[in-house]
Amino acid sequence: MSATPGDSQGHYAELEYTAGYYHELGPAHLRFCGLIAGVDVAVPEAPTYLELGMGQGVSLAVHAAANLGDYWGVDINPAHVENARELAASFDGALQLDARSFEAFATRDDLPLFDIITLHGVWSWVSDASRRVIVDLIRDRLKPGGVVYLSYNCQPGWASRSPVRHLLKLGHAARPGGDAEARIEAALEFMEDVAAADGRFFAENRPAASHAASLRKVGAQYIGHEYLNADWHVPYFSEVAQALAEADLGFVTSARLLDRVNAIHLAPAGVALLDRQKDTVLRESVRDFLVNQQFRPDVFAKAARTLSPSEQAARLDAQAFVLVCGLDEIDFQLTGAQGEVVLSEVIYGPLAVALADEDFRPKTTTGLMAAPGVSTLRRSDVVAALINLVGMGVLRPAQAFTPEIRARCDSCNRLVLDRALTGPHLKHMASPVTGGGILTPRSAQLFLRAWLAGARTTDEIALSVWQVFETTNERAVRNGHEAADREDNLAALAEMARRFLDQTVPLYRALAIL
Ligand SMILES: C[S@@+](CC[C@H](N)C(=O)[O-])C[C@H]1O[C@@H](n2cnc3c(N)ncnc32)[C@H](O)[C@@H]1O
Repeated sequence: MSATPGDSQGHYAELEYTAGYYHELGPAHLRFCGLIAGVDVAVPEAPTYLELGMGQGVSLAVHAAANLGDYWGVDINPAHVENARELAASFDGALQLDARSFEAFATRDDLPLFDIITLHGVWSWVSDASRRVIVDLIRDRLKPGGVVYLSYNCQPGWASRSPVRHLLKLGHAARPGGDAEARIEAALEFMEDVAAADGRFFAENRPAASHAASLRKVGAQYIGHEYLNADWHVPYFSEVAQALAEADLGFVTSARLLDRVNAIHLAPAGVALLDRQKDTVLRESVRDFLVNQQFRPDVFAKAARTLSPSEQAARLDAQAFVLVCGLDEIDFQLTGAQGEVVLSEVIYGPLAVALADEDFRPKTTTGLMAAPGVSTLRRSDVVAALINLVGMGVLRPAQAFTPEIRARCDSCNRLVLDRALTGPHLKHMASPVTGGGILTPRSAQLFLRAWLAGARTTDEIALSVWQVFETTNERAVRNGHEAADREDNLAALAEMARRFLDQTVPLYRALAIL
C-alpha cells in the first residue's frame, strides 16, 4: 500500500518505509548504555516513552509490548501510523499514536514529561524548522536525567558520498509523475550513467563510486526515504552536540557499543591521539575522522549525574544477561576499521559456556564470576567481554517481567507467527526477558508455529512446516540446494527440526518467547 503524499512536509511519501526493528531504541539498551558509560540515566522500570518519526512502528510496538510504561509515537505518514496501530492492536497496547507532524504534536496540551525520547533515521532527513521543534520538545518535555537516542548521517564519512544523493534527486525530479518504483529506477539509471561515464568526480572519489554501485541492493523503499526527501542535513558530531546542549543534553555514548572498542577501529597513533582529548566533543570529533564515520547512533542524557566507580561496579555486578542465539552461532571475532580481531579463547570460551549453561537461564555478572573457568579471570576482563558480546548482538541485558508483559508479548508474537504465513513477514519476536525484539528467521517462526500447535517430534514438526511450504510453493534448503520432492523436503525439515528442538526451544524458553 502506498501512502497518500498529502502534507508530508517534504518527507518522501510515495512508498512506505521498510518495517525495521532496532533494539538500540529499547529502554533496556538505553539503561545499559548509561551504565557502561558511567552516567546515572533515569530510565525507570515503567518509562514514559516517545518515539519521533517511528515509521512503521515495529520498534515502538515491540518495546511497548515487552516493557511496562506509556508509549507514544508520532509520524506524519498516515499509512505508517495505521500499520503501527495494527501491531499495537495485536496485544491491546495502549499506545498513543499521532499521525501528524512534529510541529502539530508539539502543540498538544496533554503531553506528559518523558523519560525517553528516541528518533532513528529522522534528524538528517527533516527541515531546519523540524529540528528546531524537536530540540524545543526535548528541552520542554524530557525529564531531568532522561535519555535521548538520536541517529543521523554524519560527516566526515559523507563528504565525498553526498553528491551521489544529489544525482539521485536530479534523476528523480527529471521523471515527474507516474509509478513510484519506475521513478526510482529512473533516478538510479541517471546516477549510474554519470558514474559509468569515466568522469573525474567518481575517479577522484572512489568511496562515492562504490557507494553508487551499492545502491541497487538496498531497495526502492530505502532509496526513497534515505535520498529523496526535500531535506538532507549531514552534520558533524560537534554541531549535533551544540544543538542538543540547548536542551541541556550531554553526550553519553554511542548506542553501537563496539564503537567504544578503540583497538578494533584505531591504529596505535589514533589511540594515543584520542587519549589526549579530554573534551568529549573533541574526542568524538577526532574519532569520527579516524574512522571516517558516516552514521552515528548517539545516546544523550539531560543533566545526568556521573556514577561513582563503586556505584557503577555495584550496578554492573547486579546486571543480568541472556544469550539471544546458540553457542555455535557466535562468531568470536570483532570487525572494525582496523580489520578483524579474534577474541581471547581463555576469556570468551568459559564465559560463553557459562552463559549457555542451565538452558540459557539469565545470569548476573556476579553469578557468572562464580562459574567454572570464569572465576579465575579478572572481573574487568569479564565485564569488558560481556559488553562486547552485547555489542556483537549475541547477548542482551536481561530484566524481570510481569505476567502482564508476558501476556502482551505472547499476543504480539502470535501476530508475528500469523504474518509468517500471510506476510508481510516481521523478523523479530518480543521477549519479556530482554524487553525487546529477538531476530527470528522465518523458518524458526514456522517451527515455532508447529510447536505451539502441539507438534513435538522432528517428524511432526517437519510435516507441519511442509504443509505450509506446499501452499506457498517453498522448498527446504539443505547445503545451499533446494530439496526436490516431498520426501527430500521432509528429511531436510526434520534435520532442521532437530536443531530447533535441541537448541531453539531451550533458548526461546529462557527468553520467555516460549
Ligand atoms: C527514514 S524514516 C525512519 C522511520 C523509523 N524511525 C525507522 O527507522 O524505521 C523517517 C520517518 O520520519 C517521518 N517524518 C519525517 N518528517 C516528519 C515530520 N516533520 N513530522 C513527523 N514525522 C516525520 C517519516 O514519515 C518517516 O516515517
